[in-house]
Amino acid sequence: MSDSGRSSAPHIPVMLADVLDVLRPRDGGIYVDGTFGAGGYTRAILGSADCAVLAIDRDPSAILRGRELATEFAGRLTLIEGCFGDMVRLVRALGHATVDGVVLDLGVSSMQLDEAERGFSFQQDGPLDMRMGGDGLSAADVVNTFDEGDLARIIAVYGEEKRARAVAKAIVAARAQAEFKRTLELAETVARVIGRRPQDRIHPATRTFQALRIFVNDELGELAR
Ligand SMILES: C[S@@+](CC[C@H](N)C(=O)[O-])C[C@H]1O[C@@H](n2cnc3c(N)ncnc32)[C@H](O)[C@@H]1O
Repeated sequence: MSDSGRSSAPHIPVMLADVLDVLRPRDGGIYVDGTFGAGGYTRAILGSADCAVLAIDRDPSAILRGRELATEFAGRLTLIEGCFGDMVRLVRALGHATVDGVVLDLGVSSMQLDEAERGFSFQQDGPLDMRMGGDGLSAADVVNTFDEGDLARIIAVYGEEKRARAVAKAIVAARAQAEFKRTLELAETVARVIGRRPQDRIHPATRTFQALRIFVNDELGELAR
């Protein structure tokens, strides 16, 4: 599946076996899942020992959907809406000075990708948003207001897009006609610049969308905190 394409299957956590192998959950242990998502990692941890999980996600809808799992593993799963960059504070606030292990499964969830209204997809039309939580600048705010140089830097650094300057130039030219509101408007503008050859394995807007998502959600800043 491409980074911001459409995933038709429910989320199947990758590397789950490796994660459990390293974590080796034990009875009585306390583990933090810093990217709860659809709860695949959390379910596997809770299923492999009589332990507890403190599950964090910045997306309120992931936390809401997690209630069912919290009922299934009554008393063993605590759901926390927040950012894993604040993990120490969040975990201490629950009275835990230490934990036995932490897992992070970075990126966007298939639930977020599949809901066009979240604005992550370059293949399904939706509002150009891309915020995992509800706060901060949206992707539309960024492409409609940042200057060309800043856009080029974001697209080059976070998207590793070789044609970042040309993409930024096209964005600035297009927004002078009408501001970007929808994901497909941006995807089409980028695709016109990058073009598409039959041998290309990814959509031409993949790198630009990835860059905006990482920037909007300060994903590298979260890891550094
Ligand atoms: C790839 S999914 C995780 C999937 C999960 N392992 C599962 O088994 O379903 C990533 C999740 O992490 C969340 N996320 C991304 N960055 C975050 C952050 N800094 N703090 C908290 N949650 C974050 C996203 O909202 C998304 O739900």
